[in-house]
Amino acid sequence: MYLYNAGTFLIDKSLMDWTPVVAGSAAVGLLVAFWFVYDIICRVFGFRKNGELIVAGLMIVVVAFSSWLANELFAGRAAFLLVGAMIATAMSANVFFWIIPGQRKVVAAMTSGETYDANALAIHGKRGKQRSVHNTYFTLPVIFAMLSNHYSFLYTHEHRWVLLFVMMLAGALIRQFFVQRHAFHLGRASNPWPFAAVGVVMILGVIVALKPAAPVASAAPATPVSFAQVQVLVDKHCLSCHNAQVQMKNVRLDSPEQLKQHAQNVYQQVAVTKQMPMGNATGMTEEERAMIGRWFVAGAKTD
Ligand code: HEC
Repeated sequence: MYLYNAGTFLIDKSLMDWTPVVAGSAAVGLLVAFWFVYDIICRVFGFRKNGELIVAGLMIVVVAFSSWLANELFAGRAAFLLVGAMIATAMSANVFFWIIPGQRKVVAAMTSGETYDANALAIHGKRGKQRSVHNTYFTLPVIFAMLSNHYSFLYTHEHRWVLLFVMMLAGALIRQFFVQRHAFHLGRASNPWPFAAVGVVMILGVIVALKPAAPVASAAPATPVSFAQVQVLVDKHCLSCHNAQVQMKNVRLDSPEQLKQHAQNVYQQVAVTKQMPMGNATGMTEEERAMIGRWFVAGAKTD
């Protein structure tokens, strides 16, 4: 969807004014590039002394950089999904290029009936283990990226790349808690609660950072906006996607009661995050957005 409708979903002209084909190719290129970088890091550092720590540290830097870069190049919504897809590509490639082929080689050698060198085969087991451990840590960050698409307060934030990175790191730390918990119960590892605690504190930090700003009362005396004016705007800019037949995200805006019910969300979407109308399909102006804002701040009256 994001590649075929790149003009609507992938490109944010205020960041990069490029054609759909170029933007789409760049997005696909990043998926591949992430895999190569990750794979090289694993090959070079994976089996050294403290290799897993080095790989973890480097990958934290790589994910932070990816989050920054994607959010510099693409619309926030697409950027979040893209970083998730980069990690998910590495997860799949781990399975297809290392875990399954390694297993095949070992099984083939063991069932061939001929003598085989167990030491030479051990690398496949070690590498398969290494890559599946990495996939474990990738899971929660990828799920977060997948879900983030429904929450415009995340991907429209000024510092959205930091939010994405912090949430992903919190996910990996919380995963570490789950992993280590088993070893802890078997007496092989220390108590994992600090990982969970740090992860939760990071998420709390994001919640505080995202606290909605109080509606800004403008310095100039604001002309009151009547409900009739609001209805004209909604007819023009919203009803094509939020009516009795088409109800994007179950939001209908074709009656005063429904507008009243969704007033807070309409204000957020139109005046604060400016995500609606979707891709500004109807060319809503800043002045029109400000009118919706003033109507809401003045109490969202529907009479
Ligand atoms: C071109 C189609 C289109 C137009 C026009 C449009 N919307 Fe939407 N709207 C959507 C889609 C698609 C979603 C669901 C987005 C998602 O999944 O995050 C949505 C979601 C919403 C939501 C729910 C957001 C949430 O995350 O809770 C609100 C509120 C909303 N729109 C208000 C409006 C208002 C107000 C207008 C007019 C100013 C408008 N929309 C115009 C397509 C549209």
